[in-house]
Amino acid sequence: MAEDGNIILYVSHLKKYFDINNGLRKTGTVKAVDDVTFTLRRGETLGIVGETGCGKTTLGRTILHLTNPTDGDVYFDLPQELMEEIIATDRRFHDLASQPSRSQEEENEFQELRRKIDRFRSEYSLTRKSQRKLKEYRKKMQPVFQDPFSSLDPRKLIKDIIAEPMKLLTDYSDDEILEKEKALVEEIGLGYLEP
Ligand SMILES: Nc1ncnc2c1ncn2[C@@H]1O[C@H](COP(=O)(O)OP(=O)(O)OP(=O)(O)O)[C@@H](O)[C@H]1O
Ligand SMILES: [Mg+2]
Repeated sequence: MAEDGNIILYVSHLKKYFDINNGLRKTGTVKAVDDVTFTLRRGETLGIVGETGCGKTTLGRTILHLTNPTDGDVYFDLPQELMEEIIATDRRFHDLASQPSRSQEEENEFQELRRKIDRFRSEYSLTRKSQRKLKEYRKKMQPVFQDPFSSLDPRKLIKDIIAEPMKLLTDYSDDEILEKEKALVEEIGLGYLEP
């Protein structure tokens, strides 16, 4: 899709904690993702770097809701006006929430914002959606894991791996899929052998 500068992803105060236990009882907590907030515009590329074990993979998995977050919200692919309203409301809400004290006026605003945010969360945040509802979004969110064996099944032919998402997610005919398979295999320099 063309770059249009619209915000396509808003990750808000996302957290993922893992319990550590010694087999008998909980002995601690790993805060793998702790209060991550950012926006991403359509067409933008965001790189996340950090030492091993700092939580990059867990952040990705939590955004995609492949793992349940401990807290926080993920807003993805919403009408731009709504996205901007959610971001403005959410920022103001968290600003007021982190204030050590609030005037009566701020307290009223805070309660109003809380109601609004609760509604946004339950209606739009991916972290609050059932796996069934997420199915629709999964077509638009694609992880490619660093371990090649979890991305490329060694028992399958490359052409079949290429075809699978097209079969699952598009209306292309078998002939169209075959054409695209050939074009892609040739584009990456593998050459296509007629079956
Ligand atoms: N399922 C899990 N149960 C318990 N702890 C976990 C689990 N998954 C990840 N962790 C812990 O969360 C932390 C972050 O791990 P993560 O794999 O996200 O790091 P990473 O930045 O992707 O590392 P790398 O650069 O090595 O890929 C680590 O301390 C890891 O041990
Ligand atoms: Mg990783």
